[in-house]
Amino acid sequence: MDAEEARRTLDEALDRGLEAIGGAATLEDLDLAETAALGRKAPISDVQRGLGALPQDRRRELGRAVNEAFRTLRDALSERRAELRAEAERAIAEADRIDWTLPGRRPPQGGLHVMTQTEREITDVFVGLGYRLMEAPELETDWYNFTALNMPPDHPARTMQDTLYPDLPGHDDLVLRTQTSNQQVRTMESFEPPIYVVSPGRCYRHDVTDATHSPVFQQIEILAVDEGLSLADMKGTLEQFARAMFGPDQRVQLYPDYFPFVEPGAGVRVSCFVCGGTGCSTCGNGWIEIMGAGMVHPQVLRNGGIDPERYSGFAAGMGIERVAMLRHRIPDIRLFYEGDLRFLSQFAGAA
Ligand code: PHE
Repeated sequence: MDAEEARRTLDEALDRGLEAIGGAATLEDLDLAETAALGRKAPISDVQRGLGALPQDRRRELGRAVNEAFRTLRDALSERRAELRAEAERAIAEADRIDWTLPGRRPPQGGLHVMTQTEREITDVFVGLGYRLMEAPELETDWYNFTALNMPPDHPARTMQDTLYPDLPGHDDLVLRTQTSNQQVRTMESFEPPIYVVSPGRCYRHDVTDATHSPVFQQIEILAVDEGLSLADMKGTLEQFARAMFGPDQRVQLYPDYFPFVEPGAGVRVSCFVCGGTGCSTCGNGWIEIMGAGMVHPQVLRNGGIDPERYSGFAAGMGIERVAMLRHRIPDIRLFYEGDLRFLSQFAGAA
């Protein structure tokens, strides 16, 4: 290559290199342009390698021009590189932009089970009337669950309350309680009258599961023992409960019923809170049976160490599932126990 040719090649390489560098749209393109313009196989490197063959004066002049071209290209490269980096950073920042003004996303929130809600609502009504919470054991002796409540072995009333009899060495008298009434004699043993307690909890019976029966279910019951309590006090109390729970226009109706531990015994009906008492598919005749109740039998008071000549009492108990089913028009008791969130979430935050 003679000096003229070297000069032309150099000028051309410089123009082309600057063009490629200026036109590089990405950092990758720029790397390619760098290799093409300044790499070992670049035309400018050929010129540099050929300098030694040129006459001395041209060699100097061209050598300076080569150095100048290298510098120009390197400057152009670093300038373009800085631009492209800034552009890439801007793009990332744009993609990652966070709008701090958007509302947050709430994590899914749990809630109380509809049974727990109902139990608490019922309990709260009685606590509001001055009743205290009293919990009795689910694993109970035959005495507190049956015999102390006038249901000795072989009493026919036991037939309706067959249960599970845990087989524990040294304990041949245990049952899984069939009713929260097991609290009655325990309560009387624990407190002096005046006694006003409300006692919720799980109960067990040898029942076949269907839409309205479950071998495990929940009851809540109240017990009042004081001087001079009468059936009128009981009815008034249950009316207060019905109004607080189901609405201010509620009426309560007692009808004769039998439970061995109360005398007299009563079934309790409230006016239907769906139709208001005119009669509908929920109630039939305008009334809904929700409780067993009655005046505490004198023998049960005696079993609890309380003198029936001085004190009288009343008790009433209801199934919590039944109250919840009536209230929310739930058609099948099994829904309470299946843990299906499609069912349960309908009651989230309801109480
Ligand atoms: N324990 C009774 C039942 O399970 C209900 C009841 C409670 C009746 C208190 C009278 C008094 O059927």
